[in-house]
Amino acid sequence: MSKKILVTGGLGFIGSHTVVELQNEGFEAVIVDNLSNSSEKVLDGIFAITGKRPIFEKFDLRDKQKVQNFFEKHKDVAGVIHFAASKAVNESVEEPLLYYENNLGVLTYILQELVKKDKSNFIFSSSCTVYGQADEMPITENAPVKPAESPYGNTKQVGEEVIKDTCKVNAQLAAIALRYFNPIGAHPSAEIGELPIGVPQNLVPYITQTGAGLREQLSVFGDDYPTTDGTCIRDYIHVVDLAKAHVAAMKRLVEGKNDSNYEVFNLGTGKGSSVLEVIKSFEKVSGAKLNYKIAPRREGDVIQAYADTKKANNILGWKAQSTLDEAMASAWTWEKKIRNI
Ligand SMILES: NC(=O)c1ccc[n+]([C@@H]2O[C@H](COP(=O)([O-])OP(=O)(O)OC[C@H]3O[C@@H](n4cnc5c(N)ncnc54)[C@H](O)[C@@H]3O)[C@@H](O)[C@H]2O)c1
Repeated sequence: MSKKILVTGGLGFIGSHTVVELQNEGFEAVIVDNLSNSSEKVLDGIFAITGKRPIFEKFDLRDKQKVQNFFEKHKDVAGVIHFAASKAVNESVEEPLLYYENNLGVLTYILQELVKKDKSNFIFSSSCTVYGQADEMPITENAPVKPAESPYGNTKQVGEEVIKDTCKVNAQLAAIALRYFNPIGAHPSAEIGELPIGVPQNLVPYITQTGAGLREQLSVFGDDYPTTDGTCIRDYIHVVDLAKAHVAAMKRLVEGKNDSNYEVFNLGTGKGSSVLEVIKSFEKVSGAKLNYKIAPRREGDVIQAYADTKKANNILGWKAQSTLDEAMASAWTWEKKIRNI
């Protein structure tokens, strides 16, 4: 049986770590990426870790003809892990059409090719943003999907619907939507990691860039939330743990162990950490004080979100292993490496 897996966006943050884990488990990864938010140098990092250079095809998946040509050429693709998307929430508000085209247009092009095949397996990068401010913690997969706060968030909700509707009428297509909580960290080798372009939108790269002197000060948005220390709570998951979950999900599909042809799993640690706890963890692992200030609340931030991970633990046989300190240490080692500190 073919072990060839198409990884769209495979040079990006989560995609590159997943390619490493796929190769470690004997899969053959084929990456398609247009380098809009990544660099070809990531291939060297993957090679340094695994001793294997994945096949790489550089093109823009918004080109439907090229997507068709790809599947014509790689008839033996056993599965697709679809990471490629635009992910900047603020930008999505400014440029909704870019987000709907890249995150939903491309999804339909890939699914159109997959439904032509006798059997195909598909994994989708979704997000815990689909839950909005959930009423109960921890959040199970049965929690209602709340109206999206941004076009980006909407592309994840609608993306899930597109896949579900397609699976309903195509029994030969099996799909899993993975709802990520907050991916952080880098490979422990520091050969690959997160490469945010411009000002980071996420807490951890902002912290490490502040620690490295690239940013003057971190703003903590709100310390008067109804949480233990007043700051927002999220579920931070080490990107290597997250990557391993994709391999577990792909194995479930290729081995035909799925219970239905559309399934959803939360991917988190199950533990919530406040912004101040993340800062403390950074200070502990780096041995340095972080320059931060308390700023007013930011619009659109939910108070708390952490996963109930039982479904992924029991059904995928996967569990996040790394602690927050380990993830923060890996993020800091990576930041120091890319800044030559
Ligand atoms: N990082 C997070 O916090 C997070 C959380 C939840 C969900 N997600 C989702 O996970 C996926 C991966 O996220 P990431 O953090 O690794 O992002 P990333 O930007 O690092 O990776 C995405 C990759 O896709 C490529 N790409 C984008 N559009 C493309 C196109 N049209 N054609 C070819 N390549 C294209 C980019 O160059 C990049 O290498 C995305 O779908 C994202 O929405 C991310």
